[in-house]
Amino acid sequence: MIETRLTRAFGLRHPIILAPMAYVGGGRLAAAVSAAGGLGLIGGGYCVPDWIMTEFHNAGETPVGCGFITWRLAGVPGLLDDVLAREPRAIFLSFGDPAGPGAAVKAAGVPLICQVQTLEDSRAAVDAGADVIVAQGAEAGGHGDSRATLTLVPEVADWLAVHAPEVLLCAAGGIADGRGLAAALMLGADGVVCGTRFWAATEALAPKGHHAVGLVATGDDTVHTKVVDIVRAFDWPERFQNRVLQTAFTAKWQGKNAELAQDQAAHSAWLAAIQSGDTSIASATVGEGIGLIHQVKPASEIMTDMTHQAEALLGGGWRRES
Ligand SMILES: Cc1cc2nc3c(=O)[nH]c(=O)nc-3n(C[C@H](O)[C@H](O)[C@H](O)COP(=O)(O)O)c2cc1C
Repeated sequence: MIETRLTRAFGLRHPIILAPMAYVGGGRLAAAVSAAGGLGLIGGGYCVPDWIMTEFHNAGETPVGCGFITWRLAGVPGLLDDVLAREPRAIFLSFGDPAGPGAAVKAAGVPLICQVQTLEDSRAAVDAGADVIVAQGAEAGGHGDSRATLTLVPEVADWLAVHAPEVLLCAAGGIADGRGLAAALMLGADGVVCGTRFWAATEALAPKGHHAVGLVATGDDTVHTKVVDIVRAFDWPERFQNRVLQTAFTAKWQGKNAELAQDQAAHSAWLAAIQSGDTSIASATVGEGIGLIHQVKPASEIMTDMTHQAEALLGGGWRRES
């Protein structure tokens, strides 16, 4: 068993949190991770109320939490209150100022998890009352900034030790097996947040055709890009790029943002490719950890494999006292 402040605070068997993956992390996946001893989070990312409520229903009686893309939440008044009324296990905020929604989460007595990409973000997350900070490196699947996990995690750990020792820390970005979990604990984290590894779970709602291309990809095949957000007309803040599998489409449009935004044919081609599963156009959203993943497995097996490997590397067990 790996026991940390995170497992104790949330009553978990394993210090593993399922990343709230927009549209991919539904209720079945979140429930499977929680049932296997981790903390499952529904990927409420783009704040579509009907999708989120359906996925809470699909989680059944198993306690799960929910994540939101913070800058989208302001555009959907009432959604956070509706989700808080369902007594989620935690709320996870990322990509935007956590102050406003964070206060509502704290007032409801629900644990607040804030994902950050810089040391400066960590300060804002602590000010917003975060119970857990997730230091996310640019290796991560989906959106992120430019810092690497290997240096960001210990830097945030050192800062928290001085300024907010009661706040827990998780590492995210590139953690896809027991080596990553063990390394994250050594860097000073209390646990990990994994997206890409669970993207390749049987319970994940990955788009048609995406698992097949993901399983044969290496970390070299991913790219940090704006192309996917521009073609979807998502108004992401400038600092965040999206890590996805490179396709002929992303390669063609990389760096041509203004031109792409005006190209109706490109927009139509993208939409058609999502429907048909054409993976030469529509990219799978995965991080560099994809190169460590060779099989789609049930979430419970992923958890077992990851924790057994980490326990062996850590010498049979792990207990962080402070
Ligand atoms: C398919 C996918 C969708 C994601 N969607 C979101 C999201 O909606 N909100 C969010 O905060 N993070 C999202 N992320 C990023 C995760 O929160 C997390 O930082 C990342 O998955 C960790 O790195 P890893 O993918 O290497 O495990 C997503 C990641 C993936 C792979």
